[in-house]
Amino acid sequence: METFQAQYDRYRAAVEEALQGLFLRNKPYRRLQEAMRYSLLAGGKRVRPVMVLAFCEALGGETQGALSLGAALECVHTYSLIHDDLPCMDDDDLRRGRPTCHKVYGETMAVLAGDALQAEAFRLISIAPGLSAEQRIEAVHALSAACGGDGMVAGQVLDMDALAHSEEELRDLCLRKTGGLLAAAADLGCIAAGADGSVRRQAASYAEHIGLAFQIRDDMLDVIADQDEFGKPVGSDKEEGKRTFVDLLGLERCGELVAEETRLAKEAIADLQCNEFLLELADSLADRRK
Ligand code: IPE
Ligand code: IPE
Ligand code: MG
Ligand code: MG
Ligand code: MG
Repeated sequence: METFQAQYDRYRAAVEEALQGLFLRNKPYRRLQEAMRYSLLAGGKRVRPVMVLAFCEALGGETQGALSLGAALECVHTYSLIHDDLPCMDDDDLRRGRPTCHKVYGETMAVLAGDALQAEAFRLISIAPGLSAEQRIEAVHALSAACGGDGMVAGQVLDMDALAHSEEELRDLCLRKTGGLLAAAADLGCIAAGADGSVRRQAASYAEHIGLAFQIRDDMLDVIADQDEFGKPVGSDKEEGKRTFVDLLGLERCGELVAEETRLAKEAIADLQCNEFLLELADSLADRRK
């Protein structure tokens, strides 16, 4: 039987290959494509496209269409990271173990590379092979809702304005800024597989709990990680005056919350067919070190 790691590596390799083929046009504005590829191909964990492929495969769908949807989602995620690192936002110099996009290409190009990655994501969905027109529209709806004015961008607004003070407000912030794209990952996998509403709701619940656990773990790693392994600056939240789960609850309680949200995520898909990989994925994210 294929191990969890082998399955993750198989999905990840497919994603890397799909991403490698993007934005190679040799035009007078090729510096834009260079900046897009610089950040896109810097080797993130690819958790979101892996989740798209895992849900699609667990539900018996064809992976060809799911791969395009996963690549599109990774483009949106990468755009969110490029903009998140800008001086006007978190002002970070290191991402995925390399200097951030704006450090290499300048702020103007970093803004524009993010803009282009977001638009290109929706172009990729519009031409995703092996999917019906209805599936593509559903995918556009899922991804735009996840990253738009009530989703990731709204979460970033709450984060930048330090508007979350209570645990409940912080939960809402994290569900928008981070949970949205992870929920989109689960949903895009379901859409590619043609799953029904009840399965999509189970997947959404799984992803929502994963999203919360993922951001709390990220906040913990911002304090306790080894920077070389983490690939981004440690202590950045404090430097930026962010009020995270760690400030609100302390490291120990955060660890308990990650465990609790991971348990709830697994419970949400307990009776889903072929769920073994997704159960292990939840556990592996809970104690990740990068
Ligand atoms: C980083 O996401 C941003 C957060 C939502 C915390 P990842 O931890 O998935 O970053 P990469 O894609 O592996 O670089
Ligand atoms: C940002 O959260 C999540 C995004 C929407 C990009 P963070 O600001 O904590 O993410 P990192 O730590 O820079 O990856
Ligand atoms: Mg941020
Ligand atoms: Mg940041
Ligand atoms: Mg962080």
